Amino acid sequence: MARIDLDLAHAYGPNPRSDEDYALLPLRFTFDDGGAYALLGPSGCGKTTLLNCISGLLRPSQGTVSFDGRDVTGHSPQERNIAQVFQFPVIYDTMTVGQNLAFPLRNRGVPAAQVRERVGQVAEMLDLSAVLDRQASGLSADAKQKISLGRGLVRHDVAAILFDEPLTVIDPHLKWQLRRKLKEIHRQFHLTLIYVTHDQTEALTFADQVVVMSRGKAVQVGTADALFERPAHTFVGHFIGSPGMNFLPARWRDGWIELAGRRYAPPADEAIAQRLQAAGTFKIGVRPEYLRLARPDDGQAVPAVIERAQDIGTYWIAAARLQDEDTGRTGGTDGTEASALLRARLGDEAAALRPGETAWFSVFHRHTCYYVDEELVR
Ligand SMILES: Nc1ncnc2c1ncn2[C@@H]1O[C@H](COP(=O)(O)OP(=O)(O)OP(=O)(O)O)[C@@H](O)[C@H]1O
Ligand SMILES: [Mg+2]
Repeated sequence: MARIDLDLAHAYGPNPRSDEDYALLPLRFTFDDGGAYALLGPSGCGKTTLLNCISGLLRPSQGTVSFDGRDVTGHSPQERNIAQVFQFPVIYDTMTVGQNLAFPLRNRGVPAAQVRERVGQVAEMLDLSAVLDRQASGLSADAKQKISLGRGLVRHDVAAILFDEPLTVIDPHLKWQLRRKLKEIHRQFHLTLIYVTHDQTEALTFADQVVVMSRGKAVQVGTADALFERPAHTFVGHFIGSPGMNFLPARWRDGWIELAGRRYAPPADEAIAQRLQAAGTFKIGVRPEYLRLARPDDGQAVPAVIERAQDIGTYWIAAARLQDEDTGRTGGTDGTEASALLRARLGDEAAALRPGETAWFSVFHRHTCYYVDEELVR
């Protein structure tokens, strides 16, 4: 396994001029040896491009890729010693399951006894033992993709194993099992794993470190906890969580925070308060999980008009709009109504909320984040 250092950018077309011409903007990043990483982001953000630069399927138009300090930018995937599993099964239909699993090892001249042992282990891990002698062509899409995974996992001597949305064709229940399996395998063998997905649950359960990408950029790298508690960018706040973080437009006025025409105490952290003062306008970020109903006479509570409250099963999601104190209009202080919608994850107390009614929410506490120009103030 290897440490992988990237210092690169990639444009598919010649002579890139603006940021839009880059599938990957200049990026510096290190994947530590033995780490489990996910590349997470919406379609088209550059996940596959980045993965292919790591594997060697694609040569970045600028910069370098190094494995353990050795420049491998010009090397093929074979030379880099990378295993890659793709979205759709890549297997030999004319071979049996066992032969498919053995192929990457036989190809490298591994002794037969060792091949048998390793194939047996991998088949066991992926519940393929019973079908080892079956012809691959007759199997379901699920089983075929498991063979692809097995072919990726069978070699111990690879620099890294890269997965590009490998569970797309797998049914939801099996997906969950396989994800746990991969995690287990990682724990056992300390492989460097890099896993591409646009599914946050998949990324957050699989990886120790998640690289959140947006439009060719790695906007934040962090643990599940860090991405949830302190999104570095409003994009991460929106993208991670279900529903995502609430962002409330606010401004600094005479030593106070002004939100929907009301005054609130500034954050206790002096450095953050100074940045907010300097910026003048900013956004308050608060997760639905951290919004609580409050009493109207709580001086720090924020009033909002309930639009709906939905029972999701084990909890409720209430949607409410901030109401501007001065104008009586619902909407943000800057008139951007859409951004002034609050979503709160509540318990059974939400059953009593009626549309059109005003409810009060506690918004300010230690989980509250502040954003200037979409970036977290810290
Ligand atoms: N071979 C190519 N030639 C030109 N442009 C490409 C090529 N492959 C990808 N792109 C463009 O580069 C950008 C990043 O694409 P990429 O496939 O890396 O995204 P992705 O995050 O993997 O998306 P998805 O989740 O849909 O797989 C997109 O704008 C895409 O249109
Ligand atoms: Mg892709």
